[in-house]
Amino acid sequence: MHNSAWHQTAAEGGPLIIEEGNGIRVTDSDGKSWIDVNGGYLSVNIGYGRTEIAEATYNQMRRLSYFPQGTTTSATIKFATKLAEISPGSLNRVFPVSGGSEANETALKIARAYHNRRGEPGRYKIISRKGSYHGGSGGVMWLGSAELMPRDDYNPPYPGMVYAPQPNPYRCDMGGETPTECSIRCAQAIDDLIRDNNPDEVAAVIAEPVSMPGGAVVPGDQYWPMLREICDKYGVLLIGDEVICGFGRTGKMFGVENWDVIPDIITVAKGVVSSYLPLGATIVKDEIAEPFGKQGNILPHIFTYSGHPASAIAGLKNIEIIETEGLVENSYRVGKYFKQQLEGLMVDHPIIGDIRGIGLILALDLVSDRNSKSKFPNSMQLPAKLNAGFKKRGLILRAGASQVINLGPPLCIENTDVDEIVHAIDLVLWEVEGELGMGHIT
Ligand SMILES: Cc1ncc(COP(=O)(O)O)c(C=O)c1O
Repeated sequence: MHNSAWHQTAAEGGPLIIEEGNGIRVTDSDGKSWIDVNGGYLSVNIGYGRTEIAEATYNQMRRLSYFPQGTTTSATIKFATKLAEISPGSLNRVFPVSGGSEANETALKIARAYHNRRGEPGRYKIISRKGSYHGGSGGVMWLGSAELMPRDDYNPPYPGMVYAPQPNPYRCDMGGETPTECSIRCAQAIDDLIRDNNPDEVAAVIAEPVSMPGGAVVPGDQYWPMLREICDKYGVLLIGDEVICGFGRTGKMFGVENWDVIPDIITVAKGVVSSYLPLGATIVKDEIAEPFGKQGNILPHIFTYSGHPASAIAGLKNIEIIETEGLVENSYRVGKYFKQQLEGLMVDHPIIGDIRGIGLILALDLVSDRNSKSKFPNSMQLPAKLNAGFKKRGLILRAGASQVINLGPPLCIENTDVDEIVHAIDLVLWEVEGELGMGHIT
């Protein structure tokens, strides 16, 4: 199991074994029903149990399960064409992979190779933001710095990693006190980092439109347009990591569309196939792909499962469902309602310091004191108390060590489901605040 403390899982009577899923709900091996408020890893965008995907995959596998060397398949071509059609601007060239880490590894290789092929071989540094997560494999694990992925065991770091502040308006790394101030200062910090690191050595900036690990961090509106300008000024490529945000999670098809910014490269996974099969893609602008199209100048890059036709056909069917059922719009609409309902909880619960997010990537940032925004001491075991409460009430939802609760349900969720979830969270917070002896707002 991912990130699992085996002994603790066993001590708590686990693991929880899931047998079936339908919409936003799953059923365990004892027949108990749960609401998956995380939607897998914010990845089951269309919800569980869509047999159309199983049928499309079955039919594809009966006809052709893989391809001979040096060939491709019509399923792969249709998938790539569809991604090019829905991606903004000239983001038209697609390299399919098996997941988010591979998509970002591919983006880093393309960024460095792109500069190299154009006669700027010195550009190797990559700027990412503290608190972000871009994957678990050899190179990309050194991007960002999410608490859930400590790296001490794996030193030395990948060369050329440069870390920028996270534009979280509630806890701004640069001391900004409004979303505007925070976003401008954090974008400016990237400009400063590029200059301090010799612009001729910087290959790319990578960022998620809305960052999940620190709790649905939505930057102020100035941030993404400023990143675009800064990257253009120095000839640095801008990589948008859409692994979580893509395919409707933020209420737009792609997260960057919230600010009308077009990165040079975007990476997708998770929602591209709603986790029905392993699939991701690195999508680059025509201009970035162009140097690799010339005779003798190809990008040597292979993963055996890149372009797998079964995953590709599942991805196509998934995108069709997202489009025909208006799930992007539903994410926007129900996400807004969800956020309002959570904001309603702030009236009663002093433990909630901030509610943030857009669409269906939302978070509660918990505090022991709203004025100081301080966290609870670890000895109080706040996450364990909350997680026991969520479990008791049938919610698959976790408070992490950073005392933030991330919510990212399937995009097919409805307002009545939201009411059920918010009611359960309300009860859990009452119980936990009682246990912690927190006074209530009167
Ligand atoms: C923003 C982001 N990028 C990349 C990844 C890595 O994706 P995968 O786990 O599919 O390798 C994740 C995974 O959570 C992610 O959240």
